[in-house]
Amino acid sequence: MQKLIQWIDARLPIVDAYNKHLAQYYAPKNFNIWYFFGSLAMLVLVNQLVTGIWLTMSYNPTAEGAFASVEYIMRDVKWGWLLRYMHSTGASAFFVVVYLHMFRGLMYGSYQKPRELIWIFGMLIYLVLMAEAFMGYLLPWGQMSYWGAQVIVNLFGAIPGIGDDLSLWIRGDYLISGITLNRFFALHVIALPIVLLGLVVLHILALHEVGSNNPDGIEIKKNKDENGIPKDGIPFHPYYTVHDIVGVAVFLFIFCVVVFFFPEMGGLFLEKPNFEPANQLKTPAHIAPVWYFTPFYAMLRSVTVDLFGLPAKFWGVVVMGAAIAILFVLPWLDRSPVRSMRYKGWMSKVALAIFAISFIVLGYLGIKPPSALRTGLAQVLTTLYFLYFILMPFYTRMEKTKPVPERVTG
Ligand code: HEM
Repeated sequence: MQKLIQWIDARLPIVDAYNKHLAQYYAPKNFNIWYFFGSLAMLVLVNQLVTGIWLTMSYNPTAEGAFASVEYIMRDVKWGWLLRYMHSTGASAFFVVVYLHMFRGLMYGSYQKPRELIWIFGMLIYLVLMAEAFMGYLLPWGQMSYWGAQVIVNLFGAIPGIGDDLSLWIRGDYLISGITLNRFFALHVIALPIVLLGLVVLHILALHEVGSNNPDGIEIKKNKDENGIPKDGIPFHPYYTVHDIVGVAVFLFIFCVVVFFFPEMGGLFLEKPNFEPANQLKTPAHIAPVWYFTPFYAMLRSVTVDLFGLPAKFWGVVVMGAAIAILFVLPWLDRSPVRSMRYKGWMSKVALAIFAISFIVLGYLGIKPPSALRTGLAQVLTTLYFLYFILMPFYTRMEKTKPVPERVTG
């Protein structure tokens, strides 16, 4: 075995890579449960790839055959129902895990210098993940697949000048059709997963270059022992590889409960109209995207006025785009001398709490049909969402921060 490793190592530096990324990658010893979600995101990614490959073996990407092939997978393919529910539940689990992972970043200032690139790669992952989920949702060719795609692709039509041509180009037809389904299938199973994998590799490489942040926001590399090893660091393997197994066990327990007992999650994970085949002549009474898109959908619908000769729909798209774009520049908006929420002042704490609550309530509003009251509330919450970012350069500089200890605490 030793000889084989030596033989390979002389040709491919596997021992070097193992040491650099596992055995001699020193991670802060004070990671808490918020640090489980990165490895869980990788687990869900693997689940999506593996179940996705198997689903592809029985799925038929045509307007005539798609819906029936999903029913065939559910009823006739051996264990097909399990593959499908693992994949559909995995999609929602991906977003649960990624939202918690991002929230941890906001709490502990993990996007701050020198981790800006980790954050940017993370945001690109988030964008690709949204595109991946959107295209995957068209594939079962149910009523919500069809009409959801119709609504979203039509949004591109709101762009002045090029809008109509752009949405025609995306659809490949004058309406969502088998042609659209076929190209979304190609993008969903090949193109976007490759991009996603590449981005995850870059995300981890950027992380291992600068090292992990931690709940105290202390740079452990500043405090090294005589061997050059961070005093507050422990080798990732075996300590965190074993530690992460606890997170994986808890996660899989919850995941299995959902897969086996609540795969539809009351219409949140699999929407009710999607059990009916797509019908171009029958628009569902209420079209709503899946829960992970609804905060942005609520923002889109909250814009109701035409401005500068452009329709409200256009400004809604601008607001929705800006809501995502502003997250990219977050590392440059936070001017605080400290990273972690533990040592920031009360203004940052209140701002983050308001931001998180606004996002969740917007998500709720996006699921519900609009009413005057709900639209008004969505307008207030959208404003609060943006104020969190716009005011950040001010409140992070104005507030009094607590002194950060030399070494990590507990
Ligand atoms: C497929 C999706 C993703 C995967 C597989 C992934 C994976 C990971 C892993 C394994 C880590 C190290 C462990 C940890 O700190 O939890 C990490 C750290 C990090 N990720 Fe992600 N990530 C993903 C998406 C994102 C997104 C969407 C963002 C934000 C926009 C993000 C931002 C960060 C940041 C800032 C860190 C450093 C955290 C720290 O050191 O405190 N990641 N990621």
